Amino acid sequence: MTPLKLTVIGCGYLGAVHAACMAALGHDVVGIDIDHDKVRALSSGRSPFHEPGLDEILARGIASGDLRFTAEPTADDVRGRSLHFITVGTPQASDAGAADLSHLMCAVSMLAQLLDPQERAVVVGKSTVPVGTARRVEEELAGVGAYVAWNPEFLREGYAVDDTLRPSRLVYGLSDDPEAAERGREALDEAYRPLLEAGTPVIASDFATAELVKVAANSFLATKISFINAMAEICDATGADVTMLAQALGHDERIGRRALGAGIGFGGGCLPKDIRAFVARAEELGQGESVAFLKEVDAINLRGRSRAVAAAEAALGGSVKGANIAVLGASFKPDTDDVRDSPALDVASRLHERGARVRVTDPIALSNAAADKPYLTMVEDLDAALRDADLVFLATEWPQFVSLDPKEIAPLVRTRTVVDGRNVLDRDEWSAAGWTHVGIGR
Ligand code: UDX
Repeated sequence: MTPLKLTVIGCGYLGAVHAACMAALGHDVVGIDIDHDKVRALSSGRSPFHEPGLDEILARGIASGDLRFTAEPTADDVRGRSLHFITVGTPQASDAGAADLSHLMCAVSMLAQLLDPQERAVVVGKSTVPVGTARRVEEELAGVGAYVAWNPEFLREGYAVDDTLRPSRLVYGLSDDPEAAERGREALDEAYRPLLEAGTPVIASDFATAELVKVAANSFLATKISFINAMAEICDATGADVTMLAQALGHDERIGRRALGAGIGFGGGCLPKDIRAFVARAEELGQGESVAFLKEVDAINLRGRSRAVAAAEAALGGSVKGANIAVLGASFKPDTDDVRDSPALDVASRLHERGARVRVTDPIALSNAAADKPYLTMVEDLDAALRDADLVFLATEWPQFVSLDPKEIAPLVRTRTVVDGRNVLDRDEWSAAGWTHVGIGR
C-alpha cells in the first residue's frame, strides 16, 4: 500500500473517526475543524465524544506522527496532499426540513482558497447531502482543478470505528467526466486498499446514485422501525404482542429481525433529519409524491413518544402531575453520549411539562443532556434516580438498565410500575417481582 497524504475536513462523529481510521490504515492525516476545543482534545489523543475504540486509535495516530489536527488550516496543511475528505455535518435547517449545507459550502470555499491548481487534488465528500450536491461542489472547485467524488458512510454510532475499518460496502460516486472519475476511483482505492484486500464490495456509480444510497438506506431503516411501531399501535388495540410479532416476522429472511424493535422510536443525528431532508429535496425536484410516505414514517415515530407518555399517564391513574418519575436513559441509543433528537430526552421533557418530577439518569450522556435540556433534573446515581419513584420509565436500552434486578431495586421505589419504552425487560421476571410492567404494543 502507498500511504497517502490526506486531510479530513470536519471532525465530528464522522470525521474524527474517519481521520483516526485513515491514520490507522497507515496514511498521513491532517484533521481540520473550526472548533478549537475539539481540536485541542483530538490533538491530545482524546475523543471529544464517547465512541468505543476511538481513543485508542487516536492516541496511536498522534503518537506515531501520522495524525494531527488543526483549527486554523493554512496552505501548508492542505497543499502537497492529494486527497481531501469532507466530513462536515449537514444538520436540519432551523426553519425547514431541508439540509443546511452551510458547513459543507464553507469547507468547499476553504479548499477553493487553499488548494494549488497545479496539484489537481481529489476532493471526496462523505457528508450526507441532498442529491445534486456533488455536482455543485464539482462546479465550485473547477477553478482549482480539483477532481470530485462522493463516498457516503454508513457508520453507526457506538460501532463507528468497526464500521469504518470493516464496512459492509464502499460506495464510490464518480464524476461524469472520465478523467475525474478515474482519478477519484484511484484515490479511493488507494485510501481503502486494506479494506479492498479484505474483500469489501465496491459499488461504483454516478454522483446521484451515491448520494441517494445513503438517504435511501436511512429511509429504509426509519421505515422499518416505524413499520413495527405502527404494528405496535395495532397490537395495543387488539391485545396482540408486538415483540412476538417481530420475532415471527424476522424469521423470514426477506424481512429480518433487525430494526424491528418497537418502542419510543428512532432519534439521533441522522435518521430523523435525513428523512426530512429527503422529502424536502424530492419536493424541490417535483417528486414529493414518491417519498410522501416518509412523512408518515416521521409522524408514526413522533407519535410513539406521545403514546409512551400517555401510557405513563394511564399507569399513574390519568395524570403524571406531582409524580416522581425516574427516566432511565438520555442518549438516543446505548453506547453513545449523543443526545441529538433523543426520544428519551423528548419523553422526559414531555413528562416534565405535564408536571411530573422527572429525574433522568444515564451512564455517560448526562452532561450533553443537561446542556440540551437544562430544566430537567439529571442524577448520576441510578439508585438516587430510582428512590421514591412512582414510576420508572426505561427510555434507552443501556445494558445496565436492561439487566436491572427488579427484586433488588423494588425497595427503592414507592410504586412498582415500569414503562418499558424499548420492550427489552423480561416481563415475566418483573411481574413475578411484583411490578406492573407496561410495554409498547404488548
Ligand atoms: C444510522 C444508520 O444506522 C447508519 O447506517 C447511518 O450511517 C447513520 O444513521 P445511528 O444514527 O448511529 O446510525 O443509529 P441506529 O443504530 O441506526 O439507530 C437509530 C435509532 O433507531 C436509535 O434511536 C435507535 O434507538 C432506534 N431503533 C433502532 C429503534 O427504535 N428500533 C430498532 O429496532 C432499531
